[in-house]
Amino acid sequence: MSVLDLIRPDLRQFSGYLSARKQNSGGAVWLNANEAALPQAFDNQQLNRYPEPQPQALKAALCDYYAVSADQLLVTRGSDEAIDLLVRALCVPGQDSIVIQSPTFGMYAVCAKLHACQVIDSPLSEGDERFDWDIPAMIEAVKRNGSKMLFLCSPANPTGQSLAPEALERLLLGLQDQCLVVIDEAYGEYSRNASAIALLERSPHLAVLKTLSKAHALAGARIGSVIADASLIAVLKACQAPYPISKPSAELAVQAFAPGNLSRSHQAIRECLAERAILADALQALPMVRAVFASDANFLLVRFNEAEAIGRYLLERGIVVRAMAQYPAIADCLRISIGTPSENKALLQTLNSYHRASHA
Ligand SMILES: Cc1ncc(COP(=O)(O)O)c(C=O)c1O
Repeated sequence: MSVLDLIRPDLRQFSGYLSARKQNSGGAVWLNANEAALPQAFDNQQLNRYPEPQPQALKAALCDYYAVSADQLLVTRGSDEAIDLLVRALCVPGQDSIVIQSPTFGMYAVCAKLHACQVIDSPLSEGDERFDWDIPAMIEAVKRNGSKMLFLCSPANPTGQSLAPEALERLLLGLQDQCLVVIDEAYGEYSRNASAIALLERSPHLAVLKTLSKAHALAGARIGSVIADASLIAVLKACQAPYPISKPSAELAVQAFAPGNLSRSHQAIRECLAERAILADALQALPMVRAVFASDANFLLVRFNEAEAIGRYLLERGIVVRAMAQYPAIADCLRISIGTPSENKALLQTLNSYHRASHA
């Protein structure tokens, strides 16, 4: 079975929109895209022109960083766009399904629902202050439902754990010739585990999602990547909007890979991990904290007595954390991103003041 067999039958020969930039490049007098002939007076980036569909310099930097070839990577408008493209390219609306493991990142289900596809849940199991995947149950869920795709987020959002390499190997083996396995590594840079990218050669039914939104500190630039077999990348490219990446974003993002900037990002990751350990210990010691879940990412999932009241108390004092009320298994938890040392200190002080006020 080829990965192309998983593509929607009606899209297998689809070549997508032939934009002006795709049809012809080069030349000096550009009269092909109905752009304004002159830029705005305040514009020094020539934004009167459409950007490159796949900005070459950024794409080269991403391929170099993730050690993949140009035909294995598609630059996307954040990994949110990659998730949407995958669902639209593979799933027949009203017929196909995807498998997720709740509680997990909400966009997999949102994209599936917007595309009239069923969402099959093979939930995480909760152990001693950590969640984990049930690999046999996930394989069984795909087979039982003939699902087109399984999304797995590792490190997992919002629960924080990483998938062990042996478990990923078992999953890929069990789903060979069954479905596309999408490993979302949005938080991969914070993890001790190696990226799943290395398994691509042996597993054409694997796709890996990457983003510059987390460890590269560029959430506002909206740059993600989907890395997969070249044949799948070609199909996704045909399904993508003509000019998804804005020129200012592409030019800014490419700077993230300059050696000095990259080493600063790596330093920031180390600092975040050190802060995470300090914050986890401090939270654990608070009387209203019932559990701090093991985390391999830049956030902590924390189970509280009175999570809702604490979330409200923090918000009233200007500290915004993420409520988990929409996930039944962790409705009594808050997800807390690791901030700067002073932000984390402010969080702890406010939690202490909540405790004093509620026991006064
Ligand atoms: C697991 C996961 N995947 C993808 C995304 C979306 O990332 P992007 O900003 O690249 O669209 C997020 C954002 O929070 C996330 O947590």
